[in-house]
Amino acid sequence: MPTLVTGGAGYIGSATVDLLVEHGEPVVVIDNMSEGHFDAVNPEVPLYEGSIGDGALVRSIVEKHGIDACIHFAAHTNVGDSVVEPGRYYANNVGEGLFLLNTLTATGVKQIVFSSTCATYGEPVRVPMDEDHPQHPQSPYGWSKFFVERMLEDFNRAYGTRFVGLRYFNAAGATELRGEDHKPETHLIPLVLFVALGKRGTINVFGDDYGTHDGSCVRDYVHIADLAAAHWRALGYLRKGGKSDFFNLGTGRGQSVLEVIEAARKVSGREIRVKVEARRPGDASYLVANAEKAETILDWKPRYLEIEETIESAWKWHLAHPDGYAR
Ligand SMILES: NC(=O)c1ccc[n+]([C@@H]2O[C@H](COP(=O)([O-])OP(=O)(O)OC[C@H]3O[C@@H](n4cnc5c(N)ncnc54)[C@H](O)[C@@H]3O)[C@@H](O)[C@H]2O)c1
Repeated sequence: MPTLVTGGAGYIGSATVDLLVEHGEPVVVIDNMSEGHFDAVNPEVPLYEGSIGDGALVRSIVEKHGIDACIHFAAHTNVGDSVVEPGRYYANNVGEGLFLLNTLTATGVKQIVFSSTCATYGEPVRVPMDEDHPQHPQSPYGWSKFFVERMLEDFNRAYGTRFVGLRYFNAAGATELRGEDHKPETHLIPLVLFVALGKRGTINVFGDDYGTHDGSCVRDYVHIADLAAAHWRALGYLRKGGKSDFFNLGTGRGQSVLEVIEAARKVSGREIRVKVEARRPGDASYLVANAEKAETILDWKPRYLEIEETIESAWKWHLAHPDGYAR
């Protein structure tokens, strides 16, 4: 039966839709296009332009297509914006998310794969971080994802809704067709590549005095093709009756900001100028996943382990789409 993908016109959602289509999985997308791109949506897939909080629309899609599962990507995703505009973030991610869960429950859709994040953990007390790591989000964005996780647990208990909550670390890279095009862009790899492309003068490095091997922050970059594969696995797990659970998605390897920049120099063959700035408040020094649980239970293993490979995929996409998607 078909799966409803919310936010399927976005970065990770669009790559996941392609993979599901490749596997012969019927898919329907809903996206309000606040951040999405029409050209990112697989042309074989029906796209409904509207909000996940529009109960009448979601109900009509579920009934028309006989939806039995939902992969829920739709959300605002910028940590910094969420600090400045918490109301907008809670309204969209928690408020609209709750309306979506209510409509799905009322229409009998009780299998949900949810995009959560390592931002629900906050400052690490141990690394690599496993799923039992304490959760103390440092931003309204992180809290908004944390609250949806708790709602899913309550819906599980009360209504028998089964879910897989996937806590991604840093999504990165591109497939042949889908890449990263956020406006404004805030993620490191596209920003570094914009310098290589001559679209920006320098890349800012926020802090070079952290207690890491080269002083810059370390993150775990997981390729969107691997994230897409994890959603496919999670859907299969739920369809086989798997119990509700949370899984980290990361490579288990950490790359520092300076290493990412060096890798981008190698991949692009271009000069990338760096400007060291003061630390940003709230940036953790070292965030790396322990993703063994996803490997054991979902049979998921990331294939992109080398940062050069991930950056190379992004570089190809940006060369082919220097201004992002046309629509
Ligand atoms: N990019 C990352 O590194 C990362 C890391 C951890 C978790 N996540 C989560 O993964 C999901 C996808 O992230 P992304 O980077 O692809 O973001 P994105 O902004 O590219 O995609 C999100 C999509 O959701 C849509 N959307 C937002 N609010 C909506 C609403 N109310 N109704 C309908 N559509 C709506 C947007 O138009 C957009 O197309 C998000 O939930 C994000 O929080 C992303």
